[in-house]
Amino acid sequence: MTIKEFQTDLLQGIPQELPPYPNDDNAASISHAPRRRLDNLTTADKKLALKNALRYFDEKHHATLAKEFAEELEQYGRIYMKRFRPNYEMKARPINEYPHQSQQAAAIMLMIQNNLSYAVAQHPHELITYGGNGSVFQNWAQYRLTMQYLATMTDEQTLVMYSGHPLGLFPSHKEAPRVVITNGMMIPQFSEDHHWNKFNALGVTQYGQMTAGSFMYIGPQGIVHGTTITVLNASRMLSGKNASLKGKLFISSGLGGMSGAQAKASVIAGGVGIIAEVNEKQVDKMITQGWVKEKHKDLAALVARTQKAIDNKEAVSLAYHGNIVALWEYLVENNIKVDIGSDQTSLHNPWQGGYYPVQIPFAEAEKMISEDPKKFKTLVEETLCRHVNAIHKMAERGMYFFDYGNAFLKQAKDAGANICKEDGSFIYPSYVQDIMGPMCFDYGFGPFRWVCCSNNAADLKKTDEIAAKVLKEIAKTAPEEIQQQLNDNIIWIEQALDNELVVGSQARILYADAEGRIKIAKAFNDAIREGYISAPIVLGRDHHDVSGTDSPYRETSNIYDGSQFTADMAVQNFVGDSFRGATWVSLHNGGGVGWGNVINGGFGLVIDGSQDAENRLTQMLHWDVNNGIARRSWARNKEAVFTAKRAMAQNPNLKITLPNIADDDLVNEVIS
Ligand SMILES: NC(=O)c1ccc[n+]([C@@H]2O[C@H](COP(=O)([O-])OP(=O)(O)OC[C@H]3O[C@@H](n4cnc5c(N)ncnc54)[C@H](O)[C@@H]3O)[C@@H](O)[C@H]2O)c1
Repeated sequence: MTIKEFQTDLLQGIPQELPPYPNDDNAASISHAPRRRLDNLTTADKKLALKNALRYFDEKHHATLAKEFAEELEQYGRIYMKRFRPNYEMKARPINEYPHQSQQAAAIMLMIQNNLSYAVAQHPHELITYGGNGSVFQNWAQYRLTMQYLATMTDEQTLVMYSGHPLGLFPSHKEAPRVVITNGMMIPQFSEDHHWNKFNALGVTQYGQMTAGSFMYIGPQGIVHGTTITVLNASRMLSGKNASLKGKLFISSGLGGMSGAQAKASVIAGGVGIIAEVNEKQVDKMITQGWVKEKHKDLAALVARTQKAIDNKEAVSLAYHGNIVALWEYLVENNIKVDIGSDQTSLHNPWQGGYYPVQIPFAEAEKMISEDPKKFKTLVEETLCRHVNAIHKMAERGMYFFDYGNAFLKQAKDAGANICKEDGSFIYPSYVQDIMGPMCFDYGFGPFRWVCCSNNAADLKKTDEIAAKVLKEIAKTAPEEIQQQLNDNIIWIEQALDNELVVGSQARILYADAEGRIKIAKAFNDAIREGYISAPIVLGRDHHDVSGTDSPYRETSNIYDGSQFTADMAVQNFVGDSFRGATWVSLHNGGGVGWGNVINGGFGLVIDGSQDAENRLTQMLHWDVNNGIARRSWARNKEAVFTAKRAMAQNPNLKITLPNIADDDLVNEVIS
């Protein structure tokens, strides 16, 4: 298809005449979402789902589409409107290939297409980017309509999106966000897992995960860095400040959207990583894309290979094609020493294919999800109990185990596993409690990212160099407390190109604090103005950050003043970013740890070399980090108090309310 044909197709939105049904849905290389459950939908609900879907189409097509959509609902448990999937290639294109009146809107189209591209998306035909449920849109009509709105809107309009549904273009002004996104925002009482199943089937809400529904996912690279930092620091906890993963064994599971990063991170950190994955297509995809080096099915051979790698202090990643519980039990039985263990199955979504039971083969389990959900649940619960028992045995032998924010501990507890101490707290820490929280988030360090809209690798290389230079300059005068974070990031960015991290758009990530993010962004903006970088850049971040996410089982699990169960920070972040210059903002229910368990938000900010862009980035990035610093310091986290004081010293307009620390003896004397 030529660029012109692509543009014409995009501009037409929902076609007036019905396009032919695509015939490549069954292509062997495409991974599909499992059939969704319909058992909590009444006949009246199914009729409502159908009427809701037909709202997007001219009545002349209703007779044909009603039948087709009713079949889709039965077959997939959702109405994806598969007929309307465009037949142009889905991928991030250079910004100027998108028809547009607003350059900001064109950058958003690039990000949307990247989130749906075959190289990036987990279930591309079901519009799911990662995490099993992480949707960009609920159906292809929403995609088509959104792209048409973006292609025709100006900088005097804002597109409003309710869970993938484009509500419309509303008059605004050039300083306003171009797009405001909410995903899965429910009345709290209707925010349990089964509610998602019902209301998503009705077509009125979606699970946007964190970055899928906000168009900010950039493939596993986005998470490789955080994972590298996590395993490196886990290693330092075991063997001292300057230790790497060299000669150590890290075991976890999942070669999916985010979890796939674990394999690469083990290699970057210098150790041996074994990652179990039940879905062979996923193993093969990750091997092809270079995220994991070797595939093994035979446990004895895998262990022999591992031993050799450890003896040689080799940095290597090994995929075990099989169930993680089978692997753990084998290692326990054969007395294999493991240094660090974790888990990254999609346990935030345990009943719909996020976690596969060990008792039956993968294909059989996939069918059972919809055919016998009760049995599936029982098998998953049994598997989780076996999983925990094996972990306990390894921990008794000295392994450090941490929860990787996938709700492992919570689901294990709900399944009846022996996972809690006497006081009700979990036996194992989460990676945020021990590592990410005190070492990164409380100092303001989080997953800053950017995408070069030229789609040109040469621009990305220049941004890497600029970012490294800025960080080195900051490190010259930075306090001791953040030297290690800065050094880790300088090494990361200097090696980024060699580590071949790009999948999809020309994107990069590094962990930076407010000062780092602002200085790097300003330097990019200067380089665009001077023509050194050839096109605008999208700035953004993962929602898994200092300020964007309230999640008591993950990002805010190292908040101990009771406020970890509130969501003011994430909501304030979304609102504050929107009036300080974000190009788009998003607020989600349910990413990462499950529907109802988290509120998270993010932003995208397009910089084009202008003074306006500099003003926006300066204000917005400062708030985007310091909102969380202020909250974390109010929660008495000492690293955040340090950072809050430093931020105030750097900016006289910043006044943060600081906590006074009560004496524990006094409190214990008064309340016994
Ligand atoms: N990487 C991070 O930094 C990070 C941070 C926070 C949370 N998480 C969480 O990690 C989880 C995984 O994220 P994802 O995007 O990779 O999800 P995903 O669904 O794309 O990948 C999970 C993979 O686990 C596999 N799997 C499921 N059960 C298995 C089993 N019993 N044995 C072996 N493999 C099994 C699945 O086939 C799938 O490929 C999510 O819950 C996410 O919220 C990741």
